[in-house]
Amino acid sequence: MELRLFLVGFGNVGQGFARLLASRREWLIEEAYLSCRVVAITDWHYGTCIHPRGIDLEEALEAIRRGHSLSAKAEPTLPLIQTLEYDVLIELTPTNFKTGEPAYRHIRCALERGRHVITTNKGPMAHFLLELEELARRKGVCLGYEGTVLAGTPLIRLIRSHLRGAKIQKIEGIVNGTCNYILTRMAEGLDYHQALKEAQKHGYAEADPTVDVEGWDTAAKLMILSQVAFSRKLDPTHISRTGITGIRSEDIRQAGRNGGQWRLIGRLEAQKGHIRAVITPETLPGTHPLAHVKGTTNAVTIHTDCLSPITIMGPGAGRLETGFAVFSDLLQIHQRLRE
Ligand code: HSE
Repeated sequence: MELRLFLVGFGNVGQGFARLLASRREWLIEEAYLSCRVVAITDWHYGTCIHPRGIDLEEALEAIRRGHSLSAKAEPTLPLIQTLEYDVLIELTPTNFKTGEPAYRHIRCALERGRHVITTNKGPMAHFLLELEELARRKGVCLGYEGTVLAGTPLIRLIRSHLRGAKIQKIEGIVNGTCNYILTRMAEGLDYHQALKEAQKHGYAEADPTVDVEGWDTAAKLMILSQVAFSRKLDPTHISRTGITGIRSEDIRQAGRNGGQWRLIGRLEAQKGHIRAVITPETLPGTHPLAHVKGTTNAVTIHTDCLSPITIMGPGAGRLETGFAVFSDLLQIHQRLRE
């Protein structure tokens, strides 16, 4: 089978995915019987490249590595989504936490056209996941968004597939890589600004890192998980949210002297017909499993009515790590099409 891909957004995640796709080309054909052809890439910064017969990804990646663009200027995105011939839209533009735009319009437009969509964009999924899933269902196409929470660590698939039928009561854990990285590095002696700078350099932080450190990114992920686990949309104004900006180096040293660690914890709890969502930094004792989750590693514990708590831990941010989520969603779509 062949799938034609259209990449909208060629930043950290887009390039991570392209690298994976290029390196697994033969594996995909020989082991998965899937041939992927990237027919277009567009990015507001790097420009637009359209090749119905397939773009050479290694060439495109190399051009960007050398500081070149794909074209002199980017073409308007929506008309391309409306008119190009492709099977899967891969929407990887920067997240807009307030409105989900313009990604929401991009995703809607492709689904309306009966195209499959994969995204790692948290804004549209936080606000419109249930609505977009309903649209995808009506159109008979797939919508993959594994990379919106915990990057390539398969939390969403775990909840949707493996825990189907178990009644989820509570979900809690560390879902922001940047904050966890900063708290870890501060415990190792760096000050807040040095640690944040490092997180930005590695490509973990959002374009505007205040959304990480003030807890907005965690809020968006809780909004996504609430829809995945409880089929309930959360109003962001109903989320109690405290970020990590108030934590001083002295607080971290003090916790360390007592064997503890500061962690930013997001928690969703089903309570008498409504979902309570709280984001707050907590000092965890050294005996707490989440105290040992370091750097950009994330970990989430799921409490159900029939199993003892299940914890999934793994990378929560990063180019290749999030690119892998896109790759895995692509394989999932392929599997669905073969059924
Ligand atoms: N800025 C996000 C984080 C990226 O640090 O977790 C992954 O969603």
